[in-house]
Amino acid sequence: MTALGLHGSRILIGAGLLDQCGADIRAALPGRRLAIISDETVAPLYATRVAAALAPSPVTILTIPAGEASKTRKSWSRLTDELLDAGFGRDSAIIALGGGVVGDLAGFVAATYMRGIPFVQMPTSLLAMIDAAIGGKTGVDTRAGKNLVGAFHHPALVIVDPRALSTLPLPHVRNGLAEAIKHGVIASRAEFEWIASNLAALLREGGPALELTDRLVRRNIEIKSSIVARDEREGGVRKSLNFGHTIGHAVESLSGYAMLHGECIAVGMVAEARLAAILGVADRALAGTIAELCEAAGLPTSIPESMSPAAILEATRSDKKARAGAVEYALPAKLGEMAGADRGYSIPAPDAAVLDALSQSHGVPH
Ligand SMILES: NC(=O)c1ccc[n+]([C@@H]2O[C@H](COP(=O)([O-])OP(=O)(O)OC[C@H]3O[C@@H](n4cnc5c(N)ncnc54)[C@H](O)[C@@H]3O)[C@@H](O)[C@H]2O)c1
Ligand SMILES: [Zn+2]
Repeated sequence: MTALGLHGSRILIGAGLLDQCGADIRAALPGRRLAIISDETVAPLYATRVAAALAPSPVTILTIPAGEASKTRKSWSRLTDELLDAGFGRDSAIIALGGGVVGDLAGFVAATYMRGIPFVQMPTSLLAMIDAAIGGKTGVDTRAGKNLVGAFHHPALVIVDPRALSTLPLPHVRNGLAEAIKHGVIASRAEFEWIASNLAALLREGGPALELTDRLVRRNIEIKSSIVARDEREGGVRKSLNFGHTIGHAVESLSGYAMLHGECIAVGMVAEARLAAILGVADRALAGTIAELCEAAGLPTSIPESMSPAAILEATRSDKKARAGAVEYALPAKLGEMAGADRGYSIPAPDAAVLDALSQSHGVPH
């Protein structure tokens, strides 16, 4: 088991923690009345095990339907009403058990309930383990876009049991790998190459071997934590984590959230690496290298035919990262290194360059 510190949040990583988390949770949240928030897929698999680990402390289990469509103010209001009806007070705490949807939503419930109560993140999807549960961002989606209503609220503790990945469906393993590939591009060529060499084993039917997921999760949590630790509120280096996300979020929103987040990020990374080449900050070969690994991971790399470059450009403007007209991008210089360190990792891109990158990515197989 490892303990990594981040802004007061301890991160425990270890196989078997789902069944052995009782003492750690009670130590992090002494004397608190506990509610687990989970989804209807994850709760039957793991919630009673976590509750059993917490015995004899009583635990209430609340669930939401699985999937992005649940990450709304409506779910937030239902959950907070359920907590109020059950008499949960200021001395309560939340355990977020599930993927990134549960983590973001339950974290936002914790951030706002009684003006803020502590919570524990217990991520069960690869994406949530290596990304969503780390860094203190919580929130919900709105009609105008993803994550537009939310708060920074750091968990008191993050508990990661890589064994939970044995039940994660393969499309969601691929989904999480997109963010691991992103970590490789922005911060570690070695990680990018490790993923490439272990890809077949990581995508094995029945889930990857435990020593591989343990290694993958650990290394990616280190990468994300070290970036967030240097810049909690996204004034500089944290922006590099947005690589692939400006175009990726536009694709995600135009797909009506029918495409998985990681799929959209794969498309976004390839298009934004092309943009980096057009703007002269990266080599032309980089987009091809990223596309090759994403394709090998079974992730899409071209923009769906149904989405025009103009519609995507328009959608990037409503993304929260667009400021006063000029859409700014976090772009790589090469594998493992981001461009624009002297400019807060934010590179404004003229519309013509973005349209050029988008048309190069449009419906073309690589
Ligand atoms: N807060 C942040 O910094 C941050 C960062 C990245 C992503 N996110 C958010 O995370 C969300 C995506 O997260 P996600 O991909 O985990 O989605 P998700 O929570 O919908 O989980 C994906 C699916 O896998 C299922 N699942 C999860 N763990 C499982 C397990 N161990 N076994 C079987 N099934 C399991 C879930 O029920 C769901 O159907 C998005 O809303 C995104 O905005 C937040
Ligand atoms: Zn992401």
